[in-house]
Amino acid sequence: GQDISLSCGASEPAVDQDKKKWEPDTKFLKTPNTVHAPATYQDPSLLSTVPYMTSRIFTAPATYEIPVKGDKRHMLRLHFYPSTYTGLNILDSYFSVAANDLTLLSNFSAAITCQALTQAYLVREYSLAPSEKDVLSIIFTPSDKHPKAFAFINGIEVIPMPELFDTASLVGFSDQTSDTKTANLQTMFRLNVGGQDIPGSQDSGGLTRTWYNDAPYIFSAGLGVTLQASNNFRIDYQKMPVSTAPADVYKTARSQGPNGDINMKSNLTWMFQVDTNFTYIMRLHFCEFQLAKINQKVFNIFINNRTAQGDTNPADILGWTGGKGIPTYKDYAIYVDANTGGGGEEISLQMTPSTFGQPEYYDSQLNGLEIFKIDTMKNLAGPNPKPSPMQANEDVKKDFQGDKRLENLYFQ
Ligand SMILES: *[C@@H]1O[C@H](CO)[C@@H](O)[C@H](O)[C@H]1NC(C)=O
Ligand SMILES: *[C@@H]1O[C@H](CO)[C@@H](O)[C@H](O)[C@H]1NC(C)=O
Ligand SMILES: *[C@@H]1O[C@H](CO)[C@@H](O)[C@H](O)[C@H]1NC(C)=O
Ligand SMILES: *[C@@H]1O[C@H](CO)[C@@H](O)[C@H](O)[C@H]1NC(C)=O
Repeated sequence: GQDISLSCGASEPAVDQDKKKWEPDTKFLKTPNTVHAPATYQDPSLLSTVPYMTSRIFTAPATYEIPVKGDKRHMLRLHFYPSTYTGLNILDSYFSVAANDLTLLSNFSAAITCQALTQAYLVREYSLAPSEKDVLSIIFTPSDKHPKAFAFINGIEVIPMPELFDTASLVGFSDQTSDTKTANLQTMFRLNVGGQDIPGSQDSGGLTRTWYNDAPYIFSAGLGVTLQASNNFRIDYQKMPVSTAPADVYKTARSQGPNGDINMKSNLTWMFQVDTNFTYIMRLHFCEFQLAKINQKVFNIFINNRTAQGDTNPADILGWTGGKGIPTYKDYAIYVDANTGGGGEEISLQMTPSTFGQPEYYDSQLNGLEIFKIDTMKNLAGPNPKPSPMQANEDVKKDFQGDKRLENLYFQ
């Protein structure tokens, strides 16, 4: 299995800002007579014109077939740039996307989603369990509930990946685990906690994942303090696959700070918006690069107010890894429904020092965080986000120019 990066609607291979090569999609498209169209406006926030300034547009169901190894897990990325494509009003675009028999998106509006997130383009990333099939079908279907609905796609990436999932402990139920080896997952968040954004070109294992700074998700009054290992500090992965996360994730961290008395009275808190009625895997990445002994920094971890590590079983990174510079991660599973507390559409992660065993320092620490949604009965799709009324007004003004005829489109 090789990496496949398709620039949909492109006629020539091209290279993006990260020097990644993208090829035209025609070879893999099994549906004849689809339309390809250039975007007529280049948003200044686009990092690269490839694959965003070309698109494939579907007014009827259409399928890509991509050769894969059936015994491998694959990463699938879908790139959407809901721009103005000649003759089409992007607000008419509602569609579903499936990967084999797994629904990824349904009644999806890339325009509404981007507006709600205030970003120009959108990348949806999935990790698909081995399918035992040697072809991955990606199926685009325009909604039959909206007149003039069409589907579109700008870029598709399929990347074979090692099996990085196993089991996760179910938060709030001691000794219960959730099997993640057979799960199909959607990446919700991937954060380099206390560090800078890491672009795909600097990811480990060639998986080209982007890791973002965590500061926008901090909910507590204090941001804590960021910690950084020296440039030449070596991360010793031991038996852990290097593709788990790049060394830069483990060489930065966020902790509560030097004042143990203040730390004891508060939690370092992050908050994340998610879809209800799904189970999520929280993967917390840890690495100690300052201290050297167990029972120096020991802390409790709460997910949606439930204890993930605490009481007589708090987190002690060096206790888990056995040494400075050795990384590890912990997977926790949590089910989010509308009834369990709060708004029901959020996941909170909190950390505060533990007094168990009277550790040397009262502090807590996190190096990286990934949140994955797990499929329920072959579905990963959630509803479109709701834009604020003010946003909705602006957008109607901005996009009402669409709706011409299809005459300027180019046919395959
Ligand atoms: C979640 O499930 C509950 C109970 O089955 C249902 O009433 C509710 O509509 C679902 N919410 C969403 C957003 O699908
Ligand atoms: C930290 O958060 C947990 C879970 O919400 C809560 O039970 C605990 O009281 C908090 N601790 C402090 C010191 O605020
Ligand atoms: C957690 O506790 C806080 C404070 O009591 C509350 O506002 C919030 O709704 C709770 N969240 C959940 C998911 O139970
Ligand atoms: C599709 O999404 C739109 C926008 O979020 C929503 O108003 C509409 O009710 C949805 N339709 C269906 C059939 O779910």
